[in-house]
Amino acid sequence: MPRLDDPQLDTLAMHAWEARMNAYAPYSQFHVGAAVLSADGRTFTGANVENASLGLTMCAERVALGAAISAGVRSIVAIAVAGEGPTGILPCGACRQALLEFSRGAVVLRCRPDGTHEVTSISALDPSPFTGGVVELAGI
Ligand code: THU
Repeated sequence: MPRLDDPQLDTLAMHAWEARMNAYAPYSQFHVGAAVLSADGRTFTGANVENASLGLTMCAERVALGAAISAGVRSIVAIAVAGEGPTGILPCGACRQALLEFSRGAVVLRCRPDGTHEVTSISALDPSPFTGGVVELAGI
């Protein structure tokens, strides 16, 4: 995992909570925010975006990742996820796979409503992602 200091992680968590305020979740009422830190030090945020056609729902993590990638980022070092419940939430399986495309060993912050967070890594959460045979990804 990259070495990120506590103030950096706290700031990323704060951005995730802020992003959560824009969640569009009228169907589940489950509001999620995410903040991605790129290797070049930029922060990109996202919130979940639901749809009447429920399967079209986009998770906060992939919205934040898409914002980063479409701004030219190709390497991310951390993602903070702010969700409900006392323990907070971790990225779903689909988001883990999507994050792994751009982040070997990135830090994952599971943000709790009490302002604390738990630190893990994307490769710990998904140690055996699909690689499509791509050697660089297989080295995760
Ligand atoms: N959701 C996320 O945004 N991120 C996750 O990691 C899991 C779930 C969203 C999708 C949907 O809008 C709502 O939470 C309930 O599943």
